[in-house]
Amino acid sequence: MVAKLGIDLVAAARPNFIKMAPLFNALSRESWCSTRLIHTGQHYDDNMSAAFFADFMLPEPDVHLGIGSGTHAEQTGRTLMAYESVCLEHRPDWVIVVGDVNATLACSLAATKIGVRVGHVEAGLRSGDRSMPEEINRILTDAVADLLWTPSADANENLRLEGIPGERVEFVGNVMIDTFELMRSRIEADRTCDELGLAAGNYAVVTLHRPSNVDDPATLATLVDRLIRISADLPLVFPVHPRTRSRLVENGLWRRLDACAGISLIEPQGYVRFMNLLLRAALAITDSGGMQEETTYLGIPCLTLRDTTERPITLSEGTNRLVCGEELFDAVRGAMRMSGDRPRVSLPLWDGHAAERIVDSLKRHA
Ligand code: UD1
Ligand code: UDP
Repeated sequence: MVAKLGIDLVAAARPNFIKMAPLFNALSRESWCSTRLIHTGQHYDDNMSAAFFADFMLPEPDVHLGIGSGTHAEQTGRTLMAYESVCLEHRPDWVIVVGDVNATLACSLAATKIGVRVGHVEAGLRSGDRSMPEEINRILTDAVADLLWTPSADANENLRLEGIPGERVEFVGNVMIDTFELMRSRIEADRTCDELGLAAGNYAVVTLHRPSNVDDPATLATLVDRLIRISADLPLVFPVHPRTRSRLVENGLWRRLDACAGISLIEPQGYVRFMNLLLRAALAITDSGGMQEETTYLGIPCLTLRDTTERPITLSEGTNRLVCGEELFDAVRGAMRMSGDRPRVSLPLWDGHAAERIVDSLKRHA
């Protein structure tokens, strides 16, 4: 009997669980490999982790590293050590990492140094802003990974400019779109928008969690003021990320937002509930990476409160716009005017089959 190829699929944080779901499904259908789910435990609240396993009907992780929160060095260092032990004990042939969180880098580094091959999903994205912790994770992960699966042609170009040999890079498309298509019928049937008393097409979804927006009290206070002003004309629903909740509470801003009639502060939502809110919204105001892609795919206007993006295709081809300072007010008015239009954006290989292409690629390189 030929031994099966052992694959570890690593996930640490909310966006990883979303990207991992279609990959896990696609790998589970293959007889030539056996897949283990590794949860590093960077995100651990039920509504940041278990809710996604439930939505995607994923099994319990085979290994849970229990890393938890900490500084970048603590989190990365603990994951590096913990995953190295796991790898040494039960040597996989490949580890697949997704995105750009601390575990993406830590697990790639642990694996590559002991000869376990690494595949990186969502390789090649670059914001050009090295003050973003994710940018460092992206650059370093791509430097060591054996196979780099890119979501868009700009990512291939970034890798070429960094001197990464073309034979390591494959353009496979965007797994976030696979996830949406996998879950579309449940998202469309979901009633979260109605349950929260929101009128479809007449509210914005807000999410914020980037350290550059929420960690500095003055920046956060200014954003809070702007949201309060916008909510006078447009209801806002704001599922609050735990980092942001802490900062709002610490800085006495939570009560101001909560007292505002036009703003619903809610817990982080599971994927189906959240995507129902997004699908029915007039627009999104966010700093999320994933939401720039989801809104582009769905033709929903997206105002991204950042001055760079690692996903430029969502600006040039999609509905995303980077918005700084006071221009947010005009941008909201403009977005509301175009929100009924929902342009059909069809980006190359954002077609619901990226995970299958990744599995094919892995099979060819096994
Ligand atoms: C992390 C990722 C970021 C990603 C985001 C997705 C890195 C460097 N950052 O940022 O790229 O966009 O996840 O949401 O990997 N906390 C809880 N409960 C949890 C998780 C976190 O209360 O389940 C709190 C803790 O106080 C923690 C803080 O949130 O210190 C920040 O969490 P952390 O995982 O370090 O970074 P994120 O901001 O979530
Ligand atoms: N999301 C969710 N519930 C929420 C907020 C976000 O399910 O309350 C989903 C949404 O699909 C988004 C994804 O989580 O695209 C990514 O999460 P996040 O914005 O935290 O991370 P990023 O993409 O910025 O790394």
